Amino acid sequence: ELVKELAGTAELEAGLQAKLGIRQAVVLPGDSDRLTSVKNAIGRQAARIAEEKFESCRTIAVTGGSTMAAVAAEIRAAKKNPAMQFIAARGGLGEEMLHQANTIASSFADKTGGTVRTLYLPEHMSAEALEMMMKEPIIKEMMELYDQTDLVIHGIGDAEEMAIRRRSSVTEVEKIKTGGAVSEAFGYYFDKLGKIVYRIPTAGIQLEQVQKAPGIMAVAGGRTKARAIESYFQAAPERTILITDEGAARAILNPT
Ligand code: BG6
Repeated sequence: ELVKELAGTAELEAGLQAKLGIRQAVVLPGDSDRLTSVKNAIGRQAARIAEEKFESCRTIAVTGGSTMAAVAAEIRAAKKNPAMQFIAARGGLGEEMLHQANTIASSFADKTGGTVRTLYLPEHMSAEALEMMMKEPIIKEMMELYDQTDLVIHGIGDAEEMAIRRRSSVTEVEKIKTGGAVSEAFGYYFDKLGKIVYRIPTAGIQLEQVQKAPGIMAVAGGRTKARAIESYFQAAPERTILITDEGAARAILNPT
């Protein structure tokens, strides 16, 4: 039975790699929509992969979300490394405290003995306020760190769910809907072809910065996220490692 189950996930991994055009997909058994233990398993597996990468990393950018919180919860370090620097990929305060990028970056730093750079900004700023903010030395410094990021670890959300979670304004929701947004990652909303539809006006890592980072890991599972994962991977570089679950994988490979 166990062997059959393993063969199943290996097949799903190969299928995802081919369909999403990536080199590595990891599929955990089960569906995190139904069981939190599956989300924890995604977190554990992602933590193991991340820990291996830490050895060659100095600056690591992390986003928020419940899946990223599950990764942070599973991070362990055999020996502390004060040279590692964790940075919040976005400054937004829109989400529940425990799921904010700032909280998650701090937790990674705590567990590994590294340092943390946080960025606390409102999730929604006017264009004028944002333009002024971007001139602040502290924000400029963060932007430079984003530029030197060795590893990005991020979640992927369903566009509509994220708009609701962030209490986006009517105009924002309008843009997201009319643009046909399907997925969201690090503040960017993408349509089903991976085209950017909308971007939250706050300071954070830019898509170009994510795309040039030597290491990229995406964590997202659950059947309900299948379309979002597919959409985001139209934009993601092929070296992005996806850590997901069977629920999402089966729905991506056999759309109903
Ligand atoms: C948010 C990130 O905090 O979490 C988003 O800013 C991401 O970029 C989302 O899409 C995913 O959340 P979850 O809880 O579904 O893992």
